[in-house]
Amino acid sequence: MDTLILYFSGTGNTHFVAKRIKDSLQNAECSAVETFPPERIKNYDTLIFGFPVYSCKMPEFLKQFTEKFPLTKSKRIILFSTFAYTPCNAMKDAANYFEKRGFYVVFAKGIKMPGSDALLLLKKGSRAAKKASQVNLTSIEQFVNGVKDAIYSNSTEKAQGNFLFAPLGLIAKLFIPIENTLKRAMFADEKCIHCGICEKVCPTNNIKVTERKVLFGKECVLCLRCVSQCPVEAIQIGKFTKGTVRWRGPSGDFNPLKNKC
Ligand SMILES: Cc1cc2nc3c(=O)[nH]c(=O)nc-3n(C[C@H](O)[C@H](O)[C@H](O)COP(=O)(O)O)c2cc1C
Ligand code: SF4
Ligand code: SF4
Repeated sequence: MDTLILYFSGTGNTHFVAKRIKDSLQNAECSAVETFPPERIKNYDTLIFGFPVYSCKMPEFLKQFTEKFPLTKSKRIILFSTFAYTPCNAMKDAANYFEKRGFYVVFAKGIKMPGSDALLLLKKGSRAAKKASQVNLTSIEQFVNGVKDAIYSNSTEKAQGNFLFAPLGLIAKLFIPIENTLKRAMFADEKCIHCGICEKVCPTNNIKVTERKVLFGKECVLCLRCVSQCPVEAIQIGKFTKGTVRWRGPSGDFNPLKNKC
């Protein structure tokens, strides 16, 4: 039974969970969604797709990849997200999206992980940062066992929407102006060595590095990859991110250019 795991990860959490799933399954392949040729998906029995929750949703920009997903042999798909506070209705919405595309969603669950956004406001080495970086490995293992059950014993656990979460989706929309302000506040400071890494890791080609400048365009999705991958921590968002945590996943070594899962 061949399983394919595809994921998007900005700062390593979703990659970490994808790797745990891969390591626990037989005959599973795992790849970042950006680099996987979509036409190959139809050769697998089951697709597992993972994403981080941004503003109560599966990030919109991922649709450029998911819209090209052909159905798997069994049409089965397993969905997972990583989130820090509440996934709101992201899993239910994602399940509806894939069902409309003809997939049969057999398992869909969100996993609580450290907040890549909140950590960026916490001083490195502070007690608050240590607390916010804690990972519940037991809950990840329980989730991985649920995935295994869904694949090998055909059990199902579909995501449920929750009307209590519906207002949160609306509240998240109120953050759009704040997010736009944060995107405009992104800059490379004097520490920049013009290495070009931020340009390479940006999933939306939003960054151009020249000999003199780092230019940010209008396509930012706030995935924080550039911020966390810059080798000299030169990328700041406004005044509050100097000396704060650059989260690279629970293992501390997430690198979207190298990490295979
Ligand atoms: C722009 C942005 C928006 C976020 N919105 C939410 C949210 O609505 N709910 C939540 O629980 N976590 C939210 N988070 C936290 C991330 O979902 C969480 O840290 C996730 O595990 C990051 O995954 P990654 O490391 O694979 O990118 C947000 C993070 C960012 C950067
Ligand atoms: S990754 Fe950092 S050092 Fe390298 S070009 Fe970008 S801002 Fe400059
Ligand atoms: S500019 Fe940075 S935060 Fe924005 S999408 Fe690109 S890598 Fe992500």
